[in-house]
Amino acid sequence: MTVKKRLLRTAVLALLGIAIGVGVGIYQMNFQNARVVNQEGQRPAGAMDIAGTQVGGPFTLTNQDGERTTEATFAGDYKLIYFGFTYCPAICPTELQKMARTLRILEQGNPELAQKIQPIFISVDPGRDTPEVVKDYIGLFHPRLVGLTGTEPQVEQVKRAYRIFATKVQTEEMQDYTVDHSSFTYFMGPDDEMLGIYRMNDTAQDMAADIENKMRRAENTSSAG
Ligand code: NI
Repeated sequence: MTVKKRLLRTAVLALLGIAIGVGVGIYQMNFQNARVVNQEGQRPAGAMDIAGTQVGGPFTLTNQDGERTTEATFAGDYKLIYFGFTYCPAICPTELQKMARTLRILEQGNPELAQKIQPIFISVDPGRDTPEVVKDYIGLFHPRLVGLTGTEPQVEQVKRAYRIFATKVQTEEMQDYTVDHSSFTYFMGPDDEMLGIYRMNDTAQDMAADIENKMRRAENTSSAG
């Protein structure tokens, strides 16, 4: 009786030991996997992991050729979207050049992926940025860049949808107003889901790497499912 109990206890403890060992092993494997995924996700320096954040939605604007343009115009495209204004002295041109450089990196390394991305500039200064002005401006950056502007309420609406802050600023010394505005480049997926936000300190290399990574993952998921 006591011997049986002792044997049983030993067997139970042994099984428990194995179970704990296996459990720890699985936990460590998961932890390592989690770290790999994490490191992969963090590879591009400043890219934020914000997938699933509610940004975007319906809008009605006018493109550089005076054509009515809505979110449906770009249905099924990946989109790189930058909000700014053509009179912006420094930051907008820098960020749009960076967007163009990002596309060129992707075009060289991955022409098929690059072709699926529509670059878009949206004006936050509808008072001065007419379609003609926008057309001249976007030509400086990338041949496929689309430039959108609209009426004051149309621009307000798209700013709200994309959570863009932009406001006119004029001091007494200034001949004309300027526009203080947020400077983000949004990376949106084919179903208008936000895949990434890039900031001023992200380089074109960071952005291209992050975009390629996310597109490969998305394309694999959709072809597997
Ligand atoms: Ni600007």
